[in-house]
Amino acid sequence: MADHGAFIAAPCTDRARLPEVLAVVHAAFDHLQPPSSVMRETLADFEARLRAGTVIVAQADGKIIGSLFAVRDGDALYLTRVATLPAWRRRGVGAALLTAAEQVARQADATRLTLRVRVELPDNRRYFESASFVVTGEGQDPGRPRYLAMERTLTA
Ligand SMILES: CC(C)(COP(=O)(O)OP(=O)(O)OC[C@H]1O[C@@H](n2cnc3c(N)ncnc32)[C@H](O)[C@@H]1OP(=O)(O)O)[C@@H](O)C(=O)NCCC(=O)NCCS
Repeated sequence: MADHGAFIAAPCTDRARLPEVLAVVHAAFDHLQPPSSVMRETLADFEARLRAGTVIVAQADGKIIGSLFAVRDGDALYLTRVATLPAWRRRGVGAALLTAAEQVARQADATRLTLRVRVELPDNRRYFESASFVVTGEGQDPGRPRYLAMERTLTA
């Protein structure tokens, strides 16, 4: 668990908190253009995400203010749906979620954090580059926007 004063970021195993996570993620991704596919995801989708991996949440006064999902992918921990509530942005919540993900990765002997950002969202690329991720490739799934693959190698 990482205590950042005003908030704490740590894995959450309580599936009863998933409706709150869904609301936070939808609020965080609401403004993106073109709209993110996460806006069509439901509680059932998030329950499947939790069965497949881990959800890390940042909480302030017991309320979820940010979250990400992490799933093991070979030697990597793959991160998706990184989200901070708009009212909590630029206070290190995203960085704290990434630090907590790094702890989960180390405990699982993963050597990298990986994620994808949409090519059409250069701000997201810049954000993760400033968080020590580097672009490792580019791709596109059928019917989906082009993405950049990014990773942060975990040092010993
Ligand atoms: C990306 C996101 C999670 C960052 O959350 P955050 O809690 O504000 O991040 P931090 O506080 O750790 O980092 C803030 C720093 O990153 C910068 N930053 C934050 N979001 C940024 C973005 N989307 N693009 C570029 N820079 C960004 C801020 O300018 C700030 O830098 P500063 O402190 O020098 O001003 C948040 O903006 C968000 O929820 N975005 C919408 C969802 C999304 O696009 N997620 C990523 C897709 S996987």
